[in-house]
Amino acid sequence: MYPLRRNRRLRTSEAIRSLVRETIISPNDFLVPIFVVEGKGIKDEIPSMPNYYRYSLDLLTSEVKELWALGLKSVLLFVKVPDNLKDNSGTEALNPDGLMQRAIKTVKNAVPGMLVMTDVALDPYSAYGHDGIVSKGKIINDDTNTILAEMSLSHAQTGADFVAPSDMMDGRVFEIRSLLEKEGFHDTGIMSYSAKYASAFYGPFRDALDSAPVAIKDVPKDKQTYQMDFANRDEALKETLMDINEGADIVMVKPGLSYLDIVRDIRNVVDVPVAVYQVSGEYAMLKAAAQKGWLDHDAIMMEQLTAMKRAGAHIIASYFAKDVVKLIS
Ligand code: PBG
Repeated sequence: MYPLRRNRRLRTSEAIRSLVRETIISPNDFLVPIFVVEGKGIKDEIPSMPNYYRYSLDLLTSEVKELWALGLKSVLLFVKVPDNLKDNSGTEALNPDGLMQRAIKTVKNAVPGMLVMTDVALDPYSAYGHDGIVSKGKIINDDTNTILAEMSLSHAQTGADFVAPSDMMDGRVFEIRSLLEKEGFHDTGIMSYSAKYASAFYGPFRDALDSAPVAIKDVPKDKQTYQMDFANRDEALKETLMDINEGADIVMVKPGLSYLDIVRDIRNVVDVPVAVYQVSGEYAMLKAAAQKGWLDHDAIMMEQLTAMKRAGAHIIASYFAKDVVKLIS
């Protein structure tokens, strides 16, 4: 009488499939990255990221209201800094009236309940396109940390709920946490990009912010001395556990799809929420294939995002957040 168990019984209809489905995507899972630019009336499509835009502050207001109405309650802010304000010490990052600081206020004024997370790294502010201070061909760790902590404090003072250091300097979470505590910002959280790999998937993002490392003498042309080697798995756990010890409230793996083994390793071990960042190159690949008619956009989007949650991510930062929420609502 074999088989007594036929696994296909649980797949016979959508009703039974949805009854036994283990992973369900909802608007609560998503963190929406937003690119902000100076100017007025600007909603500028990023060429390598079809249907994704840079917004000036006036249009940011309606965009975050729309997100909120869709059930998307958290944003991650990035700014495109004008070239003439870039230098090698993050001066503009600390400007209390800088674009990031104004963007934080704009979002909070538009939708007071929106959770505002801010990118903390020097690359958008760096004349060299690096996440830290450059000197004699090196990225200087500890001096960079001092600026990252001040930058975080400035964001917290302006109203950010979480700061998100994306730079991969050693010890920066500790420096940021210490300064926030000292200044009384006990409730400002830190979402650390704890296992961030030196990845070619970041290309379109660097187009969006005009933040790619520049090729000149005495400046490293890539980020391999601070971002992780994509060949490494055990090291991700070391990085992540150190960031938790230094005070990270949420940890992150980045990029997403090619790194889901890392997401699961970390999820199995840590007791803080785990985020994954489905990065710009992942977005660009699917948009391009869908435009050519080679892949079914919505089906692949759902499959990939569900895979990220199934792998163990509690939070997904994704440029597809609006698309997917519209699809499932
Ligand atoms: C830089 C930063 C990058 C991304 C987020 N923060 C690029 C980089 O490290 O060079 C990439 C995000 C994406 O590709 O979507 N601090």
